[in-house]
Amino acid sequence: MADFVGAIDQGTTSTRFMIFDHSGNEVGRHQLEHEQILPRPGWVEHNPIEIWTRTEAVVRSGLNKTGLGASDLCALGITNQRETTVVWDKRTGRPLYNAIVWQDTRTDRIASALDRDGRGDVIRKVAGLPPATYFSGGKIQWILENVDGVREAAERGDALFGNTDTWLLWNLTGGTSGGVHVTDVTNASRTMLMDLETLDWDEQLLNFFNIPRAMLPSIRPSSSPDPYGLTLNSGPLGGEVPLTGDLGDQQAATVGQVCFAPGEAKNTYGTGNFMLLNTGHELVHSKAGLLTTVCYQFDDDRPVYALEGSIAVTGSAVQWLRDQLGIISGAEKSESLARQVEDNGGVYFVPAFSGLFAPYWRSDARGAIVGLSRYNTNAHIARATLEAICYQSRDVAEAMESDSGVHLEVLKVDGGVTANDLCMQIQADVLGVPVSKPVVAETTALGAAYAAGLAVGFWNSTDELRANWNEDKRWEPAWTPEQRDSAYARWKKAVQRTLDWVD
Ligand code: G3P
Repeated sequence: MADFVGAIDQGTTSTRFMIFDHSGNEVGRHQLEHEQILPRPGWVEHNPIEIWTRTEAVVRSGLNKTGLGASDLCALGITNQRETTVVWDKRTGRPLYNAIVWQDTRTDRIASALDRDGRGDVIRKVAGLPPATYFSGGKIQWILENVDGVREAAERGDALFGNTDTWLLWNLTGGTSGGVHVTDVTNASRTMLMDLETLDWDEQLLNFFNIPRAMLPSIRPSSSPDPYGLTLNSGPLGGEVPLTGDLGDQQAATVGQVCFAPGEAKNTYGTGNFMLLNTGHELVHSKAGLLTTVCYQFDDDRPVYALEGSIAVTGSAVQWLRDQLGIISGAEKSESLARQVEDNGGVYFVPAFSGLFAPYWRSDARGAIVGLSRYNTNAHIARATLEAICYQSRDVAEAMESDSGVHLEVLKVDGGVTANDLCMQIQADVLGVPVSKPVVAETTALGAAYAAGLAVGFWNSTDELRANWNEDKRWEPAWTPEQRDSAYARWKKAVQRTLDWVD
């Protein structure tokens, strides 16, 4: 068997290709960003062609840099930004519209209508999701209703829907000359269209959004010994590699963090934050504003479910300091700027740019910076931004405890923002539990590699994967309980100020 596994991580801001060895160590990588298209307030789009050409480029460069080829890879896994919606013409392979990104709020009318006539409760029960602009169903409906010719094409069976995993799988396996049209259970569980128990598209949910079933990919396990397809000799890998792993990026990170037992949780700090708690084979319906989602399904085993706290804006609030306010020259500078002050100087920043996701689910919220006095400086704003990342994570951690009764002993973290030492210290302070980061911080790509490698016997069991997890760093809480409580009470007050903003 070949010595390595490859993984493509198609994320919100960039696409990367990584190669791992049997110990789960990184052997090579390449990464490229793509354009964030912001045509109107609240709208966020990507160009699917750019995503595919970036994918081709990172795979080619990743292999070139390491001197490896297709024959060195026993399998390839894919992981992706979830919910982002691509619709393309199966005859030409051309997208019929830009990808509508998960952060996009143009479907707020579609989402709020769902709660007015009882459909919302059915979606909560069957799909485990609250009606929100976040998920794919409303985005597909919007494209069907607003882009000329798409509904007719969909009814003829010529228009295909996919999240970016499906889009890449289609292109990697041949596109118009024979590409596969598949997704996995974790991605499908983010559409508002899949029944969490049957793991199949649900007719009633499809009717709610008036989506023809012919548009939808077939749903497969996240790790499949029967490959979804083979990469093409003429494609970026230059050879045939079985595609055997496919998971949404947050579920992949949960696998990469080896959270295989019920009660184990991780928090990923990317453009947004996503905390997932493994609930085993039990489907837990949240009473506290969390999502119920498929965590993974290996082969044809029973699926493992998770409770998820999704936060729309965390790392992207730091980008906003850089790009819109111009108070830092790079995201990493947020730490040195915030370190210029001892505390937040009374300033709280609630970055509700896409409304508020978990546990509030208020699309009418908008961002606010409160508590300002003339004393405050850029450094307080930077500190308040890092604190916002941590307070939002506390909001979802509290919801998780109340839904599951599981008390968090330690928080496993990963993602770009975990390089920010101050932010991780604040996280431990705000939560009152230690925060722990693994040596291989690229847990998303690693999780996709694990899913692909398990399918072909490169790894034999999840126990073998557990042995690969090693702690790199741990942050211990330093605040007193009184400090923690009073600061958190202020945060909750600041959140109240952001609600009911949109008429
Ligand atoms: O649900 C959205 C999430 O999958 C996006 O993750 O890491 O691309 O920001 P990321």
